[in-house]
Amino acid sequence: MDWCRAVVLSTVFSMSWSAEDLTFPPGFMFGAATAAYQVEGAWNVSDKGESAWDRYTHEHPEKIKDYSNGDVACDSYHLWKRDIEMAVELGLKFYRFSISWPRLLPSGYPNHISEDGKNYYNNLIDGLLEKGIEPFVTLYHWDLPMSLTDLDWFSDYARVVFSIYGDRVKWWITINEPLIICDVVFDTGFMAPPIVSPELGAYLCSKNVLMAHAKAWRLYDEEFRPKFHGKVSLANHHIWFDPLTPADAELAELAREDCVGKYTHPIFSSTGGWPPSLEKVLEDVSIKRGYKKSSLPAFTPEEIALVRGTYDFYAMNHYTSRLIRKAREGEALTTWPLGDSPDLGGVVQRREDWPVTTSFWFYVYPEGIRRQLVWLRQKYGNLEFVITENGLSTYAGLDDQDRINYYKDYLRQILLAIKEDGVNVTGYTAWTLMDNFEWMDGYTTKIGLYEVDFSHPQRMRTPRASARFYADLIKKHALDPITVLPLNDTVS
Ligand SMILES: *[C@@H]1O[C@H](CO)[C@@H](O)[C@H](O)[C@H]1NC(C)=O
Ligand SMILES: *[C@@H]1O[C@H](CO)[C@@H](O)[C@H](O)[C@H]1NC(C)=O
Ligand SMILES: *[C@@H]1O[C@H](CO)[C@@H](O)[C@H](O)[C@H]1NC(C)=O
Repeated sequence: MDWCRAVVLSTVFSMSWSAEDLTFPPGFMFGAATAAYQVEGAWNVSDKGESAWDRYTHEHPEKIKDYSNGDVACDSYHLWKRDIEMAVELGLKFYRFSISWPRLLPSGYPNHISEDGKNYYNNLIDGLLEKGIEPFVTLYHWDLPMSLTDLDWFSDYARVVFSIYGDRVKWWITINEPLIICDVVFDTGFMAPPIVSPELGAYLCSKNVLMAHAKAWRLYDEEFRPKFHGKVSLANHHIWFDPLTPADAELAELAREDCVGKYTHPIFSSTGGWPPSLEKVLEDVSIKRGYKKSSLPAFTPEEIALVRGTYDFYAMNHYTSRLIRKAREGEALTTWPLGDSPDLGGVVQRREDWPVTTSFWFYVYPEGIRRQLVWLRQKYGNLEFVITENGLSTYAGLDDQDRINYYKDYLRQILLAIKEDGVNVTGYTAWTLMDNFEWMDGYTTKIGLYEVDFSHPQRMRTPRASARFYADLIKKHALDPITVLPLNDTVS
């Protein structure tokens, strides 16, 4: 069969089954997500400690597009009942939110647990469970207590959280997106804390974050799993890389290892440790730059064993893709990972037909999510995958057909990964339940299923067309673009 005929046949074949089979597997879970600093507000209520993001937005408003901050945000600290109502309206199976470390432990250390902080999350968790919605909880979504400079105290914090909430929470994410915490923060200084150290700090951070995750997972495994039987993982941010030309194939694979493999090979591979190809390239680059050894800090054999296997499922955040090509001699490179890769000598660009969005780093390429899933399955075997974030940033407006199309296109690719490629995806999380403080974009970018009126004292939440689409999808347990369900818009 010639190549062209094969393509035509496979297109016809996939069209013919897709018309009938847009159903998700039985038990597939749909959820939506938020993160503490982006929605809670109440940054200074009762005894809450200051977080790195409180300090950063207060001292560097110029780093945020609209000079805003999360002081009030969606005021979910006070409006959590409405948040639960929205989860009910959508028919969510689970709600992913994060716990603010300095709200629970004001000093950062476990010497004092805030009563108000503890109650806030108890109320939220119990309120969700009453409605049959599972809490899916992230321990660390970037709001480090200002008293700490790194994640050294993470397992002590994790112990407090597992002890208080572990009886009711069965899904845990230790750390959200090491790529952002390390590579974006230290390469660009875009986010808190504003320290730029691309050649050393970023890689040191990568190792520290992996160690912090591993210790928290082992703590759960040893002390809490026997009685609570939950699942723990970390959530990675995935940017899918395609080569610009066939000659760039090896470089694209290195970029995938640098963006994703750096945070997955140590945990999910059978050998553990850094991805060997990346380790080699970074050592060469470091020596060329005049360092005595690789800026990617080595793991000892004990550390490799400590980190390897510290997962119960795979948590995948995915939004966007890139093309990469080899840099020309002397070509100026911007910073990794939102721009080029000086360490790999790669120039990163958008494919012309990938639509842009309101976030500068975000192009739309639905096939990227399927290819990323297949790559991970090929590398690490038949894991359980949960998509823990996916969604589109847009301008304001309730009739968000572009967001609906994004969800449809990406979910269809996930179905293809499940049905054609045998990837075991068991859940999907829409980012995000409602418009919120989107880090550097402040409130200028909208990603919510619900629109939030940030000038309204009650932070009025109104469902967008995409909320109706998502509720309908969840109800049917299948992709079907048509029917619209009534939703309750009233703020209680
Ligand atoms: C809390 O912060 C707000 C600004 O977001 C300020 O108006 C208020 O006075 C502060 N409250 C306390 C108790 O410090
Ligand atoms: C997918 O993972 C879940 C959870 O581990 C498991 O129960 C299920 O059997 C897996 N399905 C497949 C097809 O491997
Ligand atoms: C909408 O929700 C409010 C507050 O929970 C409730 O009072 C009202 O009866 C609901 N309306 C409908 C049509 O369900």
